[in-house]
Amino acid sequence: LQRIGVLTSGGDSPGMNACIRAVVRKAVYHGLEVMGIKRGFNGFIEGDMVPLHLGSVADIIHRGGTILHTARSVQFLNPEGRARANENVKRFGIQGLVVIGGDGSFRGASIFNREYGLPVVGVPGTIDNDIPGTDQTIGFDTAVNTAVEAINKIRDTATSHERTFVIEVMGRNFGFIALAAGLAGGAETILIPERPFSYDEICERLMRGYRRGKLHSIIVVAEGAAGGLEVARKIKERTGFDTKVTILGHLQRGGTPTAADRILASCLGAKAVELLMAGETRKMVGIKAGKVVALDIEDALSQTRSIDLDMYSLAGILSI
Ligand code: F6P
Repeated sequence: LQRIGVLTSGGDSPGMNACIRAVVRKAVYHGLEVMGIKRGFNGFIEGDMVPLHLGSVADIIHRGGTILHTARSVQFLNPEGRARANENVKRFGIQGLVVIGGDGSFRGASIFNREYGLPVVGVPGTIDNDIPGTDQTIGFDTAVNTAVEAINKIRDTATSHERTFVIEVMGRNFGFIALAAGLAGGAETILIPERPFSYDEICERLMRGYRRGKLHSIIVVAEGAAGGLEVARKIKERTGFDTKVTILGHLQRGGTPTAADRILASCLGAKAVELLMAGETRKMVGIKAGKVVALDIEDALSQTRSIDLDMYSLAGILSI
């Protein structure tokens, strides 16, 4: 193995840069060359890649976003797009590929491996924490901390004005960010897609608090469970409470990565290079019970990712 490629794909997440750095430094340490592929699989198809050296990844460990840029490539879904990518694999002499991204990116990488045989390793990078095969994804911890910081600030004004606040967080079809941020932020109610809810139940909880003299309340809603605006409208209709909404949106995707995300990114990025050097062909890396693990991509993606419903119940108990 002489030359590998690295790309970031899908939604960016804090810690992707730390991961690129780990891939490059680990590879160079072992005498490999690294090509940085721009804009996810689009750069692969268009042959938009640059050599990355030790210095190319200096001063990025603490930066959010991704220096390689990212995209959700529609072209790579088509066989023609992948055929063009394969031309570039030959042209640039790429012998292995590290894909930092989410499950969609892993699926694309896996299909490409089956079609053209290029060894690929996926590194889970997404704020959603929704990838099976790993306990945590790169960027999740930072996104949760960002959301908690926002909840803290909203709590100040919610308390002063004795208002109900609905805070909508990201997470796509999963409630990982909502549960973690809601528990850490002391939210009175957490709505996640994994657990059905009813407006009667939510309003009953609010009214119970109100009767006890609790005049403010924070409801964290995962975007996959319901829209924040809709939740607020329904609560207002039923209770008459002055209900405000904050949609945290893309601010959850940016910012300097936490130490936990930088450490995770460093360990997983380095492991990906090790796997390519060991001749592995279609793996993803992850963290399980504190240990770095490697799994077959297809096996991992066939598993279902489940949220800790005991933790969800606990959050309910602690916020009565
Ligand atoms: O997958 C990361 C994520 O931020 C999700 O939480 C969210 O649903 C989606 O991406 C938003 O996508 P976009 O940046 O394309 O609006």
